[in-house]
Amino acid sequence: MTELYLNGEYLAIEAGKVSVEDRGFQFGDGGYEVVRVYRGEPFRLKEHLERFRRTLAGIDLAMPEPDGGFESICRRVLGGLQEATIYLQVSRGAAPRTHGWSDDLRPTIVAYARACSAPAPGTTMTLRTVQDDRWGRCHLKTICLLANILAKQAARKSGADEALFVRDNRVVTEGGSSNAFLVRDGAIVTHPATNLILDGITRRAVIELARARKFRVEERPFTLAEALEATEFFMTSTTIEVMPVARIDDRVIAPGPVAAQLRADYAKLAGRE
Ligand code: PDD
Repeated sequence: MTELYLNGEYLAIEAGKVSVEDRGFQFGDGGYEVVRVYRGEPFRLKEHLERFRRTLAGIDLAMPEPDGGFESICRRVLGGLQEATIYLQVSRGAAPRTHGWSDDLRPTIVAYARACSAPAPGTTMTLRTVQDDRWGRCHLKTICLLANILAKQAARKSGADEALFVRDNRVVTEGGSSNAFLVRDGAIVTHPATNLILDGITRRAVIELARARKFRVEERPFTLAEALEATEFFMTSTTIEVMPVARIDDRVIAPGPVAAQLRADYAKLAGRE
């Protein structure tokens, strides 16, 4: 049976209680990870935990568990689920509300798993462009996701599946909760891993797979105009894997062979690791 891990205890998910003065609740003061589990095995857990450590270091919060501790927590909360996602979150902890914090707070640690399934073969997604008005620390996977959820909701209201963030009316950064890639003239282009995007674990895996196939991969900023002229466009994340894009705003894009190849390669990689 799947369980919730909360500050050292294992409970039924509905039984978990966190203080109303938790800084995660009041300030969005914390970080998180979403890890995909294939056939009972967390995929690239080490990379997720490294990124988790970098996120927490980036907000001046020490990783409260060693990697081995998180690994055993992940296995226990899975409770035998084979196809699942694990949600990990650490917030700075509970204290009387004031913006500054004292360093002796006890972080709130949460982990639980939910069953999921891979996107059905042949699925594509549609995108709606949204102004990227997020802060300058998008490389940290923090729980301050208001800009992302507003963007995704605006996309959803307009009938699209995902938001595509565009900075200063020009540069495409990433999706609301995914990374963006275009294909043009035999090259695959994606925004470099700077402070303006989250360096996705899936993004990295897909770049490796593309290079193994001898595709030219360019990690450089690209414009919305380039995106709209691309022969193919696709998004990546832990949950959508490699997802071909069928439309950006009003521009229809035909699904193509590059995304199809990388999607198949990714499925193989996920099954093997
Ligand atoms: N989000 N960019 C953003 C803003 C994201 O939130 C995510 C993932 C990604 C892709 O990262 P990865 O390949 O490591 O999943 C890129 C997760 C899935 C979420 O918030 O649910």
